Amino acid sequence: MDYEVTSLTVEQTRELGKRLGECLRGGDVVALIGDLGAGKTAFAQGIGEGLGVAGPMTSPTFTLIHEYKGYADESQIRLIHMDLYRLRHPEEAEIIGIEDAFVDDAVCLIEWPEIAKDYLPDDRLSVEIQGSGDMPREIIFRALDSSWKQRLTFLS
Ligand SMILES: Nc1ncnc2c1ncn2[C@@H]1O[C@H](COP(=O)(O)OP(=O)(O)O)[C@@H](O)[C@H]1O
Ligand SMILES: [Mg+2]
Repeated sequence: MDYEVTSLTVEQTRELGKRLGECLRGGDVVALIGDLGAGKTAFAQGIGEGLGVAGPMTSPTFTLIHEYKGYADESQIRLIHMDLYRLRHPEEAEIIGIEDAFVDDAVCLIEWPEIAKDYLPDDRLSVEIQGSGDMPREIIFRALDSSWKQRLTFLS
C-alpha cells in the first residue's frame, strides 16, 4: 500500500503529521525517511501534536533519543523520537536499545532508520519525504501490513 501527498509548506507537513499522530497507538513504529532538511523532524513534531504531547519537541540529532508523554485512545503512551544519523554500525542500534522502544506502551518515530533496518518490525509504517529547501515535498506513506490501510483513510 502506497499513498502519496504533496506538501507545499512546513505547516502542511506538520498538519499531515498531526493527522497521522491522531490515529497512532502504542506499539506503532514509524520510519521517517528523507534527506537532511526534508522535514522529518517537522513531521515528527506534528505527530507529537496529534498525540497530545505538551511542550516543544526538538531534534534528537545529537542526543539520539528523546522521550515524551502522549495520549492515544485516552490512555497514556510514551512517544519515543530517535534520530540515527550519527550511528555508523548497525550494532550500535542494538547498543542504544532500539528494541526497547518497540513495546506496546510506546509509539516510536525513527529518523534515518536505514542503518537499523534489520531491527525494525515488519509492521512499521514508512514515511518518505522527498524534496528539500523551498521545493514542495512529496510525502509517501508505505506499509507492508494491510492494517495501515484502514488507518490512513484520511489521506485519500
Ligand atoms: N513543505 C515543507 N515541508 C517540510 N519542511 C519544509 C517545507 N518547506 C520548507 N521546509 C523547511 O525545511 C526544513 C525541514 O527541517 P527538518 O524538519 O529539521 O528536516 P529533517 O529533520 O528532515 O532534517 C525546515 O526549515 C522547514 O521550514
Ligand atoms: Mg531531523
